Amino acid sequence: MRAYQITSNKGIDSLQLSDIKCGDPGPGEVKVRLRASSINYRDLVTVEDPDARGLALPFIPNSDGAGEIMSVGRGVEDFFVGDRVMTCFFQDWLNGEITSSVMNSALGGALEGVLRETGIFKKDGLIKSPGSLSDIEAATLPCAGLTAWHALVEKGRVIAGDTVLLLGTGGVSLFALQFAVMHGALPIITSSSDEKLERAKALGAWKTINYVDNPDWSNEVLTLTGGAGVDHVVEVGGAGTLAKSIESTKIGGNIYLIGILANGEVNPTALMRKSLNLHGIYVGSRAMFERMNKAIDANNLRPVIHQTFAFEEAKEAYRTMRLKQHAGKLVIDMGAQI
Ligand SMILES: NC(=O)c1ccc[n+]([C@@H]2O[C@H](COP(=O)([O-])OP(=O)(O)OC[C@H]3O[C@@H](n4cnc5c(N)ncnc54)[C@H](OP(=O)(O)O)[C@@H]3O)[C@@H](O)[C@H]2O)c1
Repeated sequence: MRAYQITSNKGIDSLQLSDIKCGDPGPGEVKVRLRASSINYRDLVTVEDPDARGLALPFIPNSDGAGEIMSVGRGVEDFFVGDRVMTCFFQDWLNGEITSSVMNSALGGALEGVLRETGIFKKDGLIKSPGSLSDIEAATLPCAGLTAWHALVEKGRVIAGDTVLLLGTGGVSLFALQFAVMHGALPIITSSSDEKLERAKALGAWKTINYVDNPDWSNEVLTLTGGAGVDHVVEVGGAGTLAKSIESTKIGGNIYLIGILANGEVNPTALMRKSLNLHGIYVGSRAMFERMNKAIDANNLRPVIHQTFAFEEAKEAYRTMRLKQHAGKLVIDMGAQI
């Protein structure tokens, strides 16, 4: 089978398509024909700088895959040949709180990733794909989808009428927008592009703010919320946006710390004065994934896919992400059939 491997620290150009052996599944394992893989910002950073993660090269990147089962090992009773499945970002996080051993089971990080035609996984490291989604769509869920769901729904218990602030129109933020709309909340979304904001409106955004034209976007959020601030912020910018996110949040509100897209400094005093709740979110468990899939099927949610790339053009997907011209997900098609 063919797989992309990071072969040096020379960035995207170091990705090489190689022929690799993939054997048969052992007891408790499942062999999957992977049909699609979406990329996340973290995968781009891994490809660009494998040394920062201390990866032994060559190394297969990406955490998010979808496909169908080719064969099952002894003792696997809950999966059958032909079942459509997705990979779980953390292969060992089944339910409950995250632990340090769970953190050592991330695909495309601690473990080799899924930018490959076939792979063998522990049965609990896979989950059935929502029946309503294609393989291309399902491949967007394991990291960006689940992270947004974990933040707003599992941790935040978002309810109808809550105000939610989303930063930019990347993969996590657009899933968070869709989950906010699904729950009847009022999403405010920012972007550097008016065109992307129009797309966000079509997805149900309540209000939009161009953060380039309006660098004091937290004042605009306060105006839009009658001076109170929002109930929830899905914070993907990190240190560079956190100070303004804190200004944008109502007293006692929630900030979900997810990303690190922008550099800057934060003074924690306002966090304390406003009695804010700052939650670190790291993807999510298999149990959360199951609940999210049910909600996706029940509400007919379709992930927003900006562009799909042929397997042979996978490098272009990472280059496109680096240009930040996308809104939603970038997916590599590895022979998707459905
Ligand atoms: N903790 C976790 O479990 C977890 C899971 C997934 C992702 N993440 C992290 O979350 C972040 C987003 O990931 P992603 O996959 O959604 O990335 P992505 O799809 O590449 O999103 C990039 C978009 O973010 C927006 N952006 C960039 N800088 C911004 C800024 N200063 N202010 C506001 N928006 C800004 C831009 O939107 P516009 O073009 O609209 O301006 C950009 O297009 C990354 O840091 C990633 O590592 C963490």
